[in-house]
Amino acid sequence: MSPVYIFQFFILFIGVNSFTLLIYMIYYGQLFSSICCDTFEKQYDYIIVGSGTAGSVIAHRLATETNYTFIVLEAGGKGIPLFDIPVLGPLLHGSIYDWRFETVPQENACLAMNNKKCRLPQGKIIGGSSKLNNMIHVRGNTSQYVDWFQAKYGKDFIEQQFQFVEDNILHLNEIKYESEFASAIIEAAIELGYNTIDEFDKGFRKSKVSQNNGKRWSTSDKLDISKHVLTNAFVEKVNIKNNIAYSVNVLISDKKYKINARKGVILAAGTYNTPKILQLSGIGPRDVLEPLNIHIIQDLPVGLNLQDHIATGLDLILFDKTLAVNPMNMLNPFHIFEYFVNGRGPLTTPGCEAIGFLSTGGDDTPDLQFMVMPVGISADRGTHLKTSLGINQTIWDNYFAQSFDKHAATILPIVLHPKSKGKVYINRTGPKTPPCIDPNYLSNLDDVKTLIDGIKLVIKFANTSPMKALGAHVNSIHFPGCEEYLIFSDEYWECYVRHLTLTSYHPVGTCSMGHSASDSVVDTSFRVFGVERLFVADASVLPTLPSGNINAAIAMMASLFFETTIKSTGVGLTSSISLVCKKTDFLNDYVQRICLNEKVSR
Ligand SMILES: Cc1cc2nc3c(=O)[nH]c(=O)nc-3n(C[C@H](O)[C@H](O)[C@H](O)COP(=O)(O)OP(=O)(O)OC[C@H]3O[C@@H](n4cnc5c(N)ncnc54)[C@H](O)[C@@H]3O)c2cc1C
Ligand SMILES: *[C@@H]1O[C@H](CO)[C@@H](O)[C@H](O)[C@H]1NC(C)=O
Ligand SMILES: *[C@@H]1O[C@H](CO)[C@@H](O)[C@H](O)[C@H]1NC(C)=O
Ligand SMILES: *[C@@H]1O[C@H](CO)[C@@H](O)[C@H](O)[C@H]1NC(C)=O
Ligand SMILES: *[C@@H]1O[C@H](CO)[C@@H](O)[C@H](O)[C@H]1NC(C)=O
Repeated sequence: MSPVYIFQFFILFIGVNSFTLLIYMIYYGQLFSSICCDTFEKQYDYIIVGSGTAGSVIAHRLATETNYTFIVLEAGGKGIPLFDIPVLGPLLHGSIYDWRFETVPQENACLAMNNKKCRLPQGKIIGGSSKLNNMIHVRGNTSQYVDWFQAKYGKDFIEQQFQFVEDNILHLNEIKYESEFASAIIEAAIELGYNTIDEFDKGFRKSKVSQNNGKRWSTSDKLDISKHVLTNAFVEKVNIKNNIAYSVNVLISDKKYKINARKGVILAAGTYNTPKILQLSGIGPRDVLEPLNIHIIQDLPVGLNLQDHIATGLDLILFDKTLAVNPMNMLNPFHIFEYFVNGRGPLTTPGCEAIGFLSTGGDDTPDLQFMVMPVGISADRGTHLKTSLGINQTIWDNYFAQSFDKHAATILPIVLHPKSKGKVYINRTGPKTPPCIDPNYLSNLDDVKTLIDGIKLVIKFANTSPMKALGAHVNSIHFPGCEEYLIFSDEYWECYVRHLTLTSYHPVGTCSMGHSASDSVVDTSFRVFGVERLFVADASVLPTLPSGNINAAIAMMASLFFETTIKSTGVGLTSSISLVCKKTDFLNDYVQRICLNEKVSR
């Protein structure tokens, strides 16, 4: 390595590691203060598990539009405003604010990663994954969502929910900073005959992001945290008796409690954790629960139907000149000043500066998305991104480290509607054991084909005049492991995508919404089939992937859940249980004990 790269490595290494140290100090500082000072009740109307994108929307609306009592139980910590500096987002990946999940070894994909496992970051912090994400806001194709709800709600009603969240809970702005790459890509798209778009359609646009004055903004940022959220509160399972969910077991700072829910338990723990909690509670496929001797309350396809937006193409486009966004630039004091004073400058970058929707089949329905980033992973010289993606060292040395003298940019082609499906399942009963996650990436050949078509489109972009003006060319180093194939042939690209398989972190579908318990977990009112007072409302209920980044659709869905299931009907009770257990609130504790034969503990 040349001395320049060693110097850059050294500076970045110090930067990354000081931040990691700071993260630990904040986390443990807040943990100890929560042990001494957090208080909570034995019983609430609603318990929300998880304060992520969905949980926070529901909590915000419960707090501002109803008089119900509720608590949000969040396994992660609070975090601090410094983490909301957009450019620092990736540094939370792999940190103590990440669940640090990974796939089981993949047969057909992730071959360039250590032990063939792709990393799957998920936020473990107030705000959930939206505190780790790229903040890109798109509604996607709203017509598609009508199908999720089996046409129970029209497109207008769904759009009203988007509007509500966008106007009342989120803050959105156009990107506040861009490299010359963003404009060049838009010009390249125009040269190739694409339109510029505002919302979902075939075409390209610069990113619209969930930020307030350049600072990361999540659905949790409107919540009164001290009043409604209990942090470091790890929910182990839901307690169900006579097919009625009535309480949760929760570890709060490692002590066990049972908290009761009078009207309902709402699971919003995300696509990997919600199915795990359900399975531990006895709701899941027989073949998963039986070997673990878990008493089966409902045999439902919990954990199946896992889908994710799969991508490829890191550092595929190289430039001879440097673009303005690079890690060294971020440490410039002027940019730090610009961020804190004006909410502008490179520190506001979401990473992805532009997006586009394309179709590989030639018709008008996009089946591919581009996410355009002015940096590659070699830019940090191997100090962070290599580890957070779990890239194999041999492959790093022989491929990515070879481009240190170039500037890399990334145009990720993403399969919008993948056909490969996987599953999430527990293989032990310990609540702290992570679930096994097998997304089965690229098990369907059509997904491979769409990605290869996507790479060909990326190359087409690299050959346009606006890109050529920046000195763009395609990385021509043979990808390690694919040497036997003629470079840039279809066989080569197949080998490449099976090695460099990337998730765009959009898992959905593990507690799918639908009309019957044979192939879904919740009905169109978000109720778990066969269990009263138990709801799931997070990314796991999405039966199919949206056409685009999914955060906005999840927030919409959570808002719709509140509007249709909590606000209008008030309860998820059946008449039978309200007859048996009808009582005034102050007697509820006592009667619940009698009715459900369960000790209320604190
Ligand atoms: C790195 C990354 C980048 C992304 N980029 C984008 C983007 O640019 N645009 C976009 O639209 N989407 C993006 N996404 C996707 C989007 O952010 C997520 O899909 C969305 O935040 C998921 O919302 P959720 O409410 O389902 O789950 P989450 O937001 O993950 O929330 C789940 C919450 O539940 C908590 N929890 C889990 N288990 C328990 C338990 N047992 N007890 C208590 N609490 C628990 C978790 O700690 C977490 O806070 C990205 C995601 C990631 C990870
Ligand atoms: C909440 O309670 C207050 C005071 O009792 C009442 O005025 C208000 O209408 C209630 N709001 C809702 C949404 O029920
Ligand atoms: C990394 O890749 C090399 C070469 O393909 C392989 O021999 C090695 O086992 C891999 N290491 C890991 C940890 O997967
Ligand atoms: C949006 O989805 C609907 C319903 O699935 C479909 O008919 C329509 O073609 C899609 N629109 C675009 C632009 O892809
Ligand atoms: C459970 O799965 C993990 C991998 O996800 C594996 O390492 C472990 O050995 C499995 N445990 C059992 C008891 O099968």
